[in-house]
Amino acid sequence: PTPHAGAAAGDGPVIVSHRGASAYAPENTLASIDKAAAMGFSWVENDVQRTRDGELVVIHDDTLARTTDVEQVYPNRAPWKVKDFTAEEISRLDAGSWFGSRYKGTRVPTLKQYMNRVSRNHQKLVLEIKNPELYPGIERQTLRLLGNEGWLKPGRLKRRLIVQSFSIGSLRTVHRLRPGIKTGYLGTPSIAALPAYAEFADQINASYTSISAGYVSALHSFDGPHGKPLEILTWTVNSGDTARRVTRYGVDGIITNTPDVVRRAVTAY
Ligand code: G3P
Ligand code: CA
Repeated sequence: PTPHAGAAAGDGPVIVSHRGASAYAPENTLASIDKAAAMGFSWVENDVQRTRDGELVVIHDDTLARTTDVEQVYPNRAPWKVKDFTAEEISRLDAGSWFGSRYKGTRVPTLKQYMNRVSRNHQKLVLEIKNPELYPGIERQTLRLLGNEGWLKPGRLKRRLIVQSFSIGSLRTVHRLRPGIKTGYLGTPSIAALPAYAEFADQINASYTSISAGYVSALHSFDGPHGKPLEILTWTVNSGDTARRVTRYGVDGIITNTPDVVRRAVTAY
């Protein structure tokens, strides 16, 4: 394989468990990161949003409907937006039964609970600020919480935390407030636009459906805000064939619901 930025030649891409090991445990729960840890995976990805009373919580959709029993518990509160419920109301919901009965009683974690578990598991986090347009100030609030939980001390910072978003504005804000944090832009800017993104993003985290070997090598030719070549974590790769293909392209990491499948494919590669 061609050596690529971010990983020594032969190491292969970093494997990131998407919403935790979400093919095997309910996404964005403590169970899903425990599952990733039990399978031997240290990098996990999550999605952060905010409750009506200002608590940061870990959940992907902007509504509670798909991944909790909110429709049964609060039948008259359609469309069940995360931002319309208090943290206490959300803490009563079951975020595991939809996935399987053995996960009954699993909760939507607060970001604080989630960070504590990531620490306890000695894991590393790709934290996505989700739907920031719905939550003014969520960047500063997230950084404050990360700081309070001890995640922003220099030293190990860049080796265990990446903040990513589809929002350019959010990433610019994070980079301005805490320039030491590694950031990832979710999307596929044109090659011509990459230097502008490299002012505030260390990574360009593009869908695997949107990239090519040429795109990955072009991206590696630009330096990010910390003077290192731009990196790419591509998503969401759940098959061995795709994992091998993007590894040939030279990606730095693969975000996947099935980290075991990717590890088998990439190790054999
Ligand atoms: O980490 C990449 C991926 O999570 C972005 O898409 O919708 O799964 O948050 P989504
Ligand atoms: Ca995500």
